Amino acid sequence: MRLLVVGGGGREHALTVALLRHDPQATVYCAPGNPGTAPIATNLPIPVDDIDRIADAVDMLGIDLIVIGPEVPLARGLADRLRAEGRSVFGPGRGGAQIESSKAFAKEVMQSAGVPTAAYAIFDDLHQATAYVDTHPEPLVVKASGLAAGKGAIVCETRAMARHALQKMLGDGAFGSAGATVVVESFLEGEELSVFALTNGTDVVLFPSAQDHKRLLEGDEGPNTGGMGAYSPVSIATPALLDRVTHEILLPTLGELSRRGAPFRGMLYAGLMIAPDGAPSVIEFNCRFGDPEAQVVLPLVKDGLIDALRAAADGKPLPPLHFTDESAVTTVLAAKGYPDAPIKGDVITLPERFPPGTELYHAGTTLDADGHLKTAGGRVLACTGRGPTFAEAQRASRALAEAVIFSGKQFRTDIGWRETARTSP
Ligand code: AMP
Ligand code: GLY
Repeated sequence: MRLLVVGGGGREHALTVALLRHDPQATVYCAPGNPGTAPIATNLPIPVDDIDRIADAVDMLGIDLIVIGPEVPLARGLADRLRAEGRSVFGPGRGGAQIESSKAFAKEVMQSAGVPTAAYAIFDDLHQATAYVDTHPEPLVVKASGLAAGKGAIVCETRAMARHALQKMLGDGAFGSAGATVVVESFLEGEELSVFALTNGTDVVLFPSAQDHKRLLEGDEGPNTGGMGAYSPVSIATPALLDRVTHEILLPTLGELSRRGAPFRGMLYAGLMIAPDGAPSVIEFNCRFGDPEAQVVLPLVKDGLIDALRAAADGKPLPPLHFTDESAVTTVLAAKGYPDAPIKGDVITLPERFPPGTELYHAGTTLDADGHLKTAGGRVLACTGRGPTFAEAQRASRALAEAVIFSGKQFRTDIGWRETARTSP
């Protein structure tokens, strides 16, 4: 089997490792991949948004299944293009990807489908938006509708903060076209949970749920980031809760997308708030695996991965997926200066022997002309640990995070603190 993974981050390294673990005979290509995928796959130097060149490579290499990692090529229609050429593609077309690329669209879909989500209003006019905010209870949330690399949602304690956020987005154009439409919504109380539904457009198979840690610093302080770590499974994700999420959220959303002519095949990632009374509602949808959540959920797949990806890609009945009973924790190592101005070019020293039960995923790394591994992005590496319990997985992840050395390394030692609080006596 010939497989292509589109993307070059930690999520795509984890996808590549998982695909090869499930089919060691497969030939895997990555576009563009990274120094972590280079020894196990063939990296093609093609940027993720160069749709023509990716389509040409797929044709030339006779690829059997394409797995698209990031949202940008999905939002630009890479999956539509490849499907039109008769290929199996894991990932929605441009229409389905709007569930992530337009928060305004996502809200309308949820409203039509009766899916629980925060009350909201949509604006592209600063004065109208400000007038709405002036009568809205505090706190409230202002979101750029378009893709903003995880930085487009501003939780505002006060109306004054919300007015400031609106001015930045609609007045100053700080988010470019992504912020030309904004969603203003009510603040939801509760605990966040990420649910990952592999789907053929009508049915779903759930991966283990996860929680990620978006803030830079311990105790969930400091600026928002792309994600400093994640763990899976999460003990609040009981079978009863997941059943509710499936029937009240996932299936109605997929049905509404199909009705709108935007069927969704791939990974529907639901970012949820679980209210104190246990009711789930949607904070946002993503149209792909999470990063760094992929680095914890993929290692937990025992078997069935490739068949499930293929069935979802082709809109066929979904075979079951089997997961191990283990836990996984990933700790992201970020560069000095992340997230504002990450410093690149620091030499990375990897340990000679990795702690047992660990796997290192590359994200922002590069090999220089002399073959030295160096930092090349904000999130540099993800250190995943697995174990029979959450605590063991957490220890393994932390041990690897400590054993990798580069100047200015930033990481959190409290990944999964909510689970620690729940599971320790
Ligand atoms: P989003 O980009 O929509 O996922 O939002 C980023 C983060 O902002 C979420 O992970 C939440 O922590 C927070 N957030 C967004 N919307 C809400 C909301 N309506 N209520 C409470 N927190 C929210
Ligand atoms: N970790 C959050 C995301 O992938 O969107």
